[in-house]
Amino acid sequence: MTFLIIEGGHALAGSVKVKGAKNSMLPIMAAAILSSEDRDVVLENIPDIMDMHMKKNILQSLGLKVDYGESTLRLNAHDLSNYTIPAELMREMRSSIFLMGPILARLGKVRVTYPGGCSIGPRPIDLHLKGLEALGANIWEEKDYIVASTSGLKGAEIHLDYPSVGATENVMMAAVLAHGTTIIHNAAKEPEIVDLQNFLNNMGAHVRGAGTESLRIRGVETLGSCRHRIIPDRIVAGTYLMAGAITGGQVTVQDVIPSHLDAVIAKLQEAGVVIETGEDTISVLNGQLKGVETLRTLPYPGFPTDLQSPMMALLTRAKGPSTIVESVFEARFKHVKELNRMNAQISVDGRTALLAGSAALRGAEVSATDLRAGAALIIAGLAAEETTVVREIQHVDRGYERLDLELKKLGANINRITNKLSLKTGI
Ligand code: UD1
Repeated sequence: MTFLIIEGGHALAGSVKVKGAKNSMLPIMAAAILSSEDRDVVLENIPDIMDMHMKKNILQSLGLKVDYGESTLRLNAHDLSNYTIPAELMREMRSSIFLMGPILARLGKVRVTYPGGCSIGPRPIDLHLKGLEALGANIWEEKDYIVASTSGLKGAEIHLDYPSVGATENVMMAAVLAHGTTIIHNAAKEPEIVDLQNFLNNMGAHVRGAGTESLRIRGVETLGSCRHRIIPDRIVAGTYLMAGAITGGQVTVQDVIPSHLDAVIAKLQEAGVVIETGEDTISVLNGQLKGVETLRTLPYPGFPTDLQSPMMALLTRAKGPSTIVESVFEARFKHVKELNRMNAQISVDGRTALLAGSAALRGAEVSATDLRAGAALIIAGLAAEETTVVREIQHVDRGYERLDLELKKLGANINRITNKLSLKTGI
């Protein structure tokens, strides 16, 4: 069992470099399947995180050659042969669902199970399936598997009921090799969609409109390999800024695209945090934390749901109450129970969390219920009196490269313990 032990109360100081975005890297790794050329797709700025290794295993099981080293992935899908994603690998990560589009486009058939991933409430895939059906896929269930097949995808006009990030990506990846033109209305506008568009176009695709709510994709016959640098991880950047702010420290995140964090910066400023931005840096400077009237998570360019829990940890310490509304995912408040074990004073009513503010956080034994919940508990631990123990840290390792070591370099008193014994017998 691996857990983190944090002694709170140390102001963080210094800078940290941010690597490529997990949520850009995962669909782009899937999109590498679309290249039939016997030459490597090269992806740079790749973080060494568990989700990358899991995705690498899945792609290898499909017949791709995949190598990782020095922040670079090399993928070759020339020999793609298998259209079934093994159930045990599929269960490990939700983002496997967007392998459906590219596998279907390359092989005309794909077999997957319902995806796994973080436990943050029901995460249906109806929009993915409807989109693929609109492009001419036949989809049916076979025991525990969802099977899709086609004798040739055809361009179509698709209206997404919700601007789902994953569904937009899945349909984009299928449509680039479809016959004719596809238009996706109400598409997601996240920076990761723009990165995927740029990658696909580098491979020879014809995609326009990413970053707006309407995407236009003209299908091409084949796609080849290319070299691409993944955009910086705005969620990782936001996490470090919040970690710095809760400790009253001064932290700079480097190698970021500040405009990707506009909504986050605005909310941090509303919460009294002093922020300075440079060309590719953002710094938090010491400020007096105060509560915010309403923070509502929204699709981009709104406040990202992935930073809701770290921001909640920060706001527990602010002077005055705050209200947080989670409008993207149901049941993404599992961290509240754990934060309250640290004396956070939060109550939940449906999708709304009410924070009393001015909480004197106290160290406790808590569990990371999902990736971002884990980040929130670590942030709270940095500002809590005495010792915080964060268990289930494997969730955090899915999306943060060496988070504990980077925080240590910034001055946190944080240690990773790997122990075969249970905590009760240990500490
Ligand atoms: C992606 C991100 C995740 C982020 C989320 C929202 C990746 C790997 N993950 O997840 O970190 O929190 O965007 O910014 O990029 N929905 C449906 N039907 C569908 C698909 C989605 O109802 O077919 C609903 C979901 O249940 C959820 C909402 O749409 O309530 C948003 O989901 P979506 O944008 O699809 O998120 P993901 O792509 O899963």
